Amino acid sequence: MTETHRVILCASGDLHEVKGPRRAQTLRHRSTLMALLSLIGTMAGCATPSSDEPTPEPTETTQGAWQIGTEIDTSGPTTTSTPLGLALEFENGAGPTLSVRAGQKFFIEQLDLRGAIDATTDEGVDGLADRGPLANLDWRGVELDDQEFVGLGNPDGTFTRRRFFTGARWMRRPSVMVISQLDNHGHPTAAPWILNLGADSHRSPLDTFFIRRTRAIQWTYDCASKDDCSGASLFQEEGLVELRHSAWNQQVRRFASRTTRLELLWSELPSARWSVDVEQVGDPGYDYNFNILMDIEEPTSGVFQPGDDVPVTLTLVDGSGERLHPEGSLPSYADVVFGPNPSGIQYYNAFFDPTTTFYRRKHRERMMAIQMIGPAQDIQPIRTVAPLEQFLVPSETLLLGTQDRDGLYAEAQLFPPAHVLFGGAFFPDSGAWSTPVSDQLTFHIPADAKPGTYRITMKARRVFMGQDIPRSVTKEIQVGSAEHTEASLPTGPCNTCHSGAGDLSRVLHANADRAACNGCHVPLGFELEGPVYVRTHFIHSRSERFDRPKDDCSSCHKEKSSIQRVSKSACLSCHDSYPASHVTAFGPIQSMYVGGDTESFDNCTSTCHQNHPGSHL
Ligand code: HEC
Ligand code: HEC
Ligand code: HEC
Ligand code: HEC
Repeated sequence: MTETHRVILCASGDLHEVKGPRRAQTLRHRSTLMALLSLIGTMAGCATPSSDEPTPEPTETTQGAWQIGTEIDTSGPTTTSTPLGLALEFENGAGPTLSVRAGQKFFIEQLDLRGAIDATTDEGVDGLADRGPLANLDWRGVELDDQEFVGLGNPDGTFTRRRFFTGARWMRRPSVMVISQLDNHGHPTAAPWILNLGADSHRSPLDTFFIRRTRAIQWTYDCASKDDCSGASLFQEEGLVELRHSAWNQQVRRFASRTTRLELLWSELPSARWSVDVEQVGDPGYDYNFNILMDIEEPTSGVFQPGDDVPVTLTLVDGSGERLHPEGSLPSYADVVFGPNPSGIQYYNAFFDPTTTFYRRKHRERMMAIQMIGPAQDIQPIRTVAPLEQFLVPSETLLLGTQDRDGLYAEAQLFPPAHVLFGGAFFPDSGAWSTPVSDQLTFHIPADAKPGTYRITMKARRVFMGQDIPRSVTKEIQVGSAEHTEASLPTGPCNTCHSGAGDLSRVLHANADRAACNGCHVPLGFELEGPVYVRTHFIHSRSERFDRPKDDCSSCHKEKSSIQRVSKSACLSCHDSYPASHVTAFGPIQSMYVGGDTESFDNCTSTCHQNHPGSHL
């Protein structure tokens, strides 16, 4: 019996045990299985490992391959036998060479697939069905969902429009991918990974991944204004698949010594064989996994006073505790984006691979940042827009929340600091991107700071030898008083859905501490959708995988008062239209995220909309 057959039998054994709404689910399981079987049909015979090298450790397939359980430690030391999450990338049929530690065990934790074509006319995304690598997908039913211009104009005075399409049949129906390890001759060297993608139209307990997003995006790069793209002739159309955070059915496979290539087969694109070259490295110089050590220099009393500085030193380490950078400095921006960057520390990457909340590759934005916020008992959203200019003045930290204006203090710093990062982008000849980056920074407690517990939270990402992992850490300090204070959040708990593979400690920035979000998440002049409430409303309202009635605010809100601060950004982050009377009074809808411009954060009424139909509050 081939490895492939064994896996299928194993899988169908598990299928029967799954509980849940019966009839619909059985049908869905069956359609997934059909997809799987038809895909195996197209692979016919090719999954038999060649006889001269036995499949490594067959017991993994028979016993532990379909592990139930999603606890994944991405911070400790590893060996080649520690199962690690593999991040794969395929673009237009191929992908960058994948370097991994030789003989490492992996399950698939993340997969990004993209196919793109250029166009000179405005054909929506119809070109994708005509030509290019995704032409054989079933594009019937694809439709425009949302559109949004890039916040900043282009250097030549034009504007970039993004249009987001969903609903194609290939997106809405269940499909399966198989990733095989192949040798130089194209022969399989090990049992494949089989990924059950599920469907955009619903979430199923059988899905391999918690996050599963498929879209098509039309880019128009030369619009005369934000109202007029009629004369445009520079277009790109792309199809995207984003899969992240594998769930109950992780399959652990070891890289066989003869593997030199990975091949992807997909039931929606049966004729295509996309592949990436694999390079196995005996001793990569660092361990896998990632940790951030934060050292805060405290006063001897243990309590900071208003007006004090807070010196912080950061050390980024691998799972074995080895430094990823020399003491005193982090890599320069140029080192990280152009190399060499052997340790895999990441910085903001959206200059090179644009990102859009929910719709495109936010996990690949990879900003390294740190925030301080407090006092904890006053934590709430910050609604003051931080203008672009604030990111260009040569100040290391950004003051984003003030006591009198926002009801709390928040200060943040980017790595490299904002003026270096954005200065280098706007003025490439300035050499800013080659500036050394310090591993130390200083927060400044304002003179009017209220007493209580303040929190410092750092987020970063490491991409190393096939592993792409986020890390967030939080430390508390006391200001003005030794008495510990806590945030009282009017929303949550989120773990009704965000558990297992979708746990907030695992997805996104690996941060389950929702009192540690709002210092970074303020509206930005060039990205108004900063606040967490805007993003949370937007992502869940757009996703059909959010399996609750969308007008039932009580899925996330604990009390009625928490839905009473009415603003364009709070309501139009879910709604994409409002009545004609509102258009007259408040203006037409301009943004899919926040409704309007900077006025979107103003409280527009305290008498209307003090509850929501269907809210259960
Ligand atoms: C240290 C700064 C920082 C903190 C703290 C932080 N974020 Fe973020 N967040 C970012 C940045 C920067 C991005 C853009 C993507 C990236 O670079 O990771 C982002 C992206 C997001 C997105 C967009 C995801 C998508 O798929 O479009 C959401 C939602 C989000 N954050 C929610 C949260 C929540 C909830 C918390 C608290 C539990 C939080 N963030 C804490 C900086 C932060
Ligand atoms: C009814 C289930 C449900 C509840 C309740 C829920 N979520 Fe989600 N959440 C989801 C699903 C499903 C997704 C994935 C959506 C998609 O990608 O299509 C998601 C996605 C997210 C993401 C994006 C993660 C990423 O990597 O891009 C964030 C952040 C998030 N949720 C935060 C929250 C917070 C905070 C709460 C509580 C205030 C919450 N969610 C409550 C189901 C839920
Ligand atoms: C998926 C989770 C989720 C659902 C569902 C949800 N909200 Fe929210 N909402 C949030 C979170 C989280 C915050 C607060 C974020 C924070 O503290 O930064 C919030 C904040 C708000 C705010 C306050 C904005 C501000 O300026 O402070 C309003 C108003 C609001 N929600 C309205 C609603 C209404 C009305 C509904 C139901 C129709 C709803 N929300 C459903 C997650 C959700
Ligand atoms: C989490 C998503 C979400 C948020 C946030 C949200 N709504 Fe809704 N709202 C819905 C859904 C879903 C419905 C029911 C379907 C529909 O009419 O679109 C609805 C219905 C309504 C209706 C009834 C429409 C009708 O024709 O019966 C009104 C009025 C409304 N919302 C106003 C608001 C206002 C004002 C806010 C901000 C305070 C808001 N909504 C925030 C999701 C949301």
